[in-house]
Amino acid sequence: MTFTPAKWPRKLRSQEWYGGTSRDTIYHRGWLKNQGYPDDLFDGRPIIGVMNTWSELTPCNGSHMKDIAEKVKAGIWEAGGFPVEVPAFSASENTYRPTAMMFRNLAAMAVEESLRGQPIDGCVLLVGCDKTTPSLMMAAASTDLPTIVVTGGPMLNGYFRGERVGSGTHLWKFSEAVKAGEMTQEEFLEAEQSMSRSSGTCNTMGTASTMASMAEALGMALSGNAAIPAVDSRRRVIAQLSGRRIVQMVKDDMKPSDILTKEAFENAIRTNAAIGGSTNAVIHILALAGRTNVELTLDDWDRCGRDVPTIVNLLPSGEFLMEEFFYAGGLPVVLKRLGETGLLHRDAITVSGSTIWDEVKDVRNHNENVILPAEKALAQSGGIAVLKGNLAPNGAVLKPSAATPALMTHRGRAVVFEDIDDYKARINDEDLDIDETCIMVMKNCGPKGYPGMSEVGNMGLPPKVLKKGITDMIRISDARMSGTAYGTVVLHTSPEAAAGGPLAVVQSGDMIEIDVPNRRLHLDITDEELAARLANWTPHHETFDSGYAWLHQAHVEGADTGADLDFLKGCRGSPVGRDAH
Ligand code: FES
Repeated sequence: MTFTPAKWPRKLRSQEWYGGTSRDTIYHRGWLKNQGYPDDLFDGRPIIGVMNTWSELTPCNGSHMKDIAEKVKAGIWEAGGFPVEVPAFSASENTYRPTAMMFRNLAAMAVEESLRGQPIDGCVLLVGCDKTTPSLMMAAASTDLPTIVVTGGPMLNGYFRGERVGSGTHLWKFSEAVKAGEMTQEEFLEAEQSMSRSSGTCNTMGTASTMASMAEALGMALSGNAAIPAVDSRRRVIAQLSGRRIVQMVKDDMKPSDILTKEAFENAIRTNAAIGGSTNAVIHILALAGRTNVELTLDDWDRCGRDVPTIVNLLPSGEFLMEEFFYAGGLPVVLKRLGETGLLHRDAITVSGSTIWDEVKDVRNHNENVILPAEKALAQSGGIAVLKGNLAPNGAVLKPSAATPALMTHRGRAVVFEDIDDYKARINDEDLDIDETCIMVMKNCGPKGYPGMSEVGNMGLPPKVLKKGITDMIRISDARMSGTAYGTVVLHTSPEAAAGGPLAVVQSGDMIEIDVPNRRLHLDITDEELAARLANWTPHHETFDSGYAWLHQAHVEGADTGADLDFLKGCRGSPVGRDAH
């Protein structure tokens, strides 16, 4: 793969607003001068949008993002560009209801139009929390303006009574421990203080760390970006270097379409397997590919990930946290390992202008307990397993590194919850007819059903099972699962129940067979019985008749293709359009 830089100097799109002496130009330029900008800033230099997802209600992208933005802007000034910081839709994971996922596509749409409709020649995406990274990358891919990603970085390690506490992961662990009678509610409240110790995103290999790693593996961020802690001075350094680099990318006209090739996507999928990354990456990467000309399917996830061992020993699959991953050398070490074992397209181009292999070939692993040798891998086949069968004709996913090996092949009796409310109402009932050999099934939590597809797929086990010391059971749903969660959890079952998929007609007492080695998910009823049940099915989920919730429900696609809105797919470029003045 080669990239040929464009000729420089040439007229940039921002000059359609600011170049020349027409009335319209004077209007645009004069207005911006009320900020105190001198004349020579409008001489045709690259204008860079610093798209900042900072928000006081997105604590993962908290006030440190303002400092990072200043460093990015310093780099842009140094390189002869003109930075303009622009607020970007910030879909916070821990505040938005019903789920931030419902707003990923809205954020992508808002940022896409913000880029296209304004005098911007290139952009830096300041992102971090789970949905902010994919939504802004989707927007950038659809406009295809030169783009570089800078993430806010993960939090420092948390500790509770001397033990590492991982974001999210320990919330699930402690909550189950309270239900099992192994921890008091007071201790749980005490632990709350230790979970978020500094600014930054989740410190586990949750979705935020995964998507930061995906941006780096795709070549959309400078090498080393993903793991630098939010509060480490080197986070500021890479921000400044990214600011310098985007100016040259604009001059070279290096666009996302030059970087986001099929090879880059395959590198990302294999990286996700190696890091034990979040199942959410499946949806986001498919959605991102849908904004490009690259054909990427759920089957590519299974095909590319199968031979990749999970070598990053981080919670929730392993032991350590992002801080230790950074000290061990971070993602470049993982990419080097993939490159040494024939699992990386070495000549994929990155935002640096170099190949991904040139960026990583000389790095060293500083801690083999954190980035493991292959023979000590957490899972030898660490890739996301894509299961298919009459229960999931379009596929469902499972993360082997977070699952229990003994449950990978299992036949069990279904205990069905019609939706999350039904689950909450009955799960603590001591009379619930369930034991650890059963398979818990939950419906109506997919992209249309919830709506937005919430992270409830790792539904907690019933207390009567937990009290026996059992910590895992098979769970199947059309929901997602937090990247910080774990367990033998089958997710994203497609088509979802609310769209009339077979999941909608599973009944308590049905037998279900799961066979991960053979990628099979089977509801053990006859074809005739399944057809009869589907013919009598009526929707059960809440529906909306106005507002964004209506737009989302009417147009969202299935999880198997990325859950984008159908009318947002594809690259629309960045034409400057007409001037209304
Ligand atoms: Fe925002 Fe985890 S909740 S990064």
